[in-house]
Amino acid sequence: LSRQHRAPLYEALLQHLKKKPLSFHVPGHKMGEGFDIQAHACYSSILRLDQTEIEGLDDLHSPHGPIDQAQRLAAEFIGAEKTYFLVNGSTGGNLAMIQTVCGRGDVVIVQRNAHKSIIHGLILAGARPVYLAPRIDPETGIAAGVDGFTIEKAMRHYPEAKAVVVTSPNYYGMGSDLKKIQAAAHHAGIPLLVDEAHGAHYGIHAKYPRSAIQQGADIAVQSTHKMGISMTMGAWMHVQGQLIDKERLEWLLTVYQSSSPSYPIMASIDLSRRFFYEQGYAFLQRGWEMANRFRQAFQADEHYYIPSPERENHAYTSIDPLKLTIHIRKSLTGFMLKKHLQEKGMYMELADLHHVLAVLGPGTKKEEIDLLIHQLAVLSKEAKHSCEKENPRFIANNILYKETFQAVHEPLDITRYKGKERMPLKQANGRISGEMIIPYPPGIPILHVGERWTPELVEQVLQLKEQGARFHGVADSTLEKVTVLT
Ligand SMILES: Cc1ncc(COP(=O)(O)O)c(C=O)c1O
Repeated sequence: LSRQHRAPLYEALLQHLKKKPLSFHVPGHKMGEGFDIQAHACYSSILRLDQTEIEGLDDLHSPHGPIDQAQRLAAEFIGAEKTYFLVNGSTGGNLAMIQTVCGRGDVVIVQRNAHKSIIHGLILAGARPVYLAPRIDPETGIAAGVDGFTIEKAMRHYPEAKAVVVTSPNYYGMGSDLKKIQAAAHHAGIPLLVDEAHGAHYGIHAKYPRSAIQQGADIAVQSTHKMGISMTMGAWMHVQGQLIDKERLEWLLTVYQSSSPSYPIMASIDLSRRFFYEQGYAFLQRGWEMANRFRQAFQADEHYYIPSPERENHAYTSIDPLKLTIHIRKSLTGFMLKKHLQEKGMYMELADLHHVLAVLGPGTKKEEIDLLIHQLAVLSKEAKHSCEKENPRFIANNILYKETFQAVHEPLDITRYKGKERMPLKQANGRISGEMIIPYPPGIPILHVGERWTPELVEQVLQLKEQGARFHGVADSTLEKVTVLT
């Protein structure tokens, strides 16, 4: 495996630069010459790598040179049959993978708490999802994953289904038993597609979960920019087995990705694979120790509860050690805690009503974890004297996921056929939503187009809004008014 020490695409770019090439091709900045002095000083080294499909640098959409070699090394490293580099994040991969397996009117079994890119893929395909309710973690209220038993049941109810789509791990690192889910899907002869955007570092170290591909998934999409070292938007997709039409998948990847994919991003995916090979184990060991230290610091804290890989939980079968979910038991909301930490210069991945999520990565240092531990301890002490009010239960997930299965009968793009109107959110109870309501992050729709507003949902969105949550998918981003079907 010594070739794993190579980074063919990155090396090809360096080789090209050695020629001191004159550029008569795009991009127009010509290795940064078009930038002003200050911006050039900032961007210069990256702009030299910002090349295009010229001799020696290959073509993502028809790879025969260093991109092909880099993708093959990635597939070998992951243990997949084929790996595709993605320059539009996991988003582009999810859109392509969904439409590879289904078309208009096809039934697809989908875990309901999926990222919007999965839902967008279904809308574009014209598919009919059967949503599966995720299990709710009783200790935090977070929607986790689905289990093999639920998939088996879904297969019996919907034998016409074309694929199973799950998200594992979720944003908070909670994962499902993919082996069992895969067995249920394959028993019915259909593929398992896994949105593994948050699990690019899985399958390398025994203290971390196995990867979706290792557990038999047919397609797995991972954001190497999230848990690897790629630049933002760098991701990859892994494929194996006979259930996937690779020709169609490759065509869809050309549909959803630019015909001028970024070389700095692609080379950073190549470097991410080399990093995982050479330093992945050490990074994950270091990360595990840092995360452990963090969890131990708050083991008996009365204000915070941190889900831990060591604890048994029926809502998920694994948890990513590097995702530090701080569940706040009382006094503060997640948004308030996030703001307090921000004032101390610490920027968190996300906040919701009762959580703040800190994500560790290859670049995290031990001193930084110590600072976070210190700051949280100070805030916990202060909170003790301010207010003893218990946080209300996190109603969101319990009201969202009442039904085990929820089959969608109307087309997902129903707004194309029906009239719409805007109305005040406070009066929306009972009306059918004409837009997706997506708190961002995490980007998981809490109301889909075609679903009915209930008093609890209105209340939940009002609470999120009041706490400063941002929303995607909506026409009025202040959410004073929402779009409903007439
Ligand atoms: C579960 C999940 N899937 C997919 C995505 C999309 O990934 P990307 O930002 O790489 O496009 C995200 C983004 O946060 C996500 O949380």
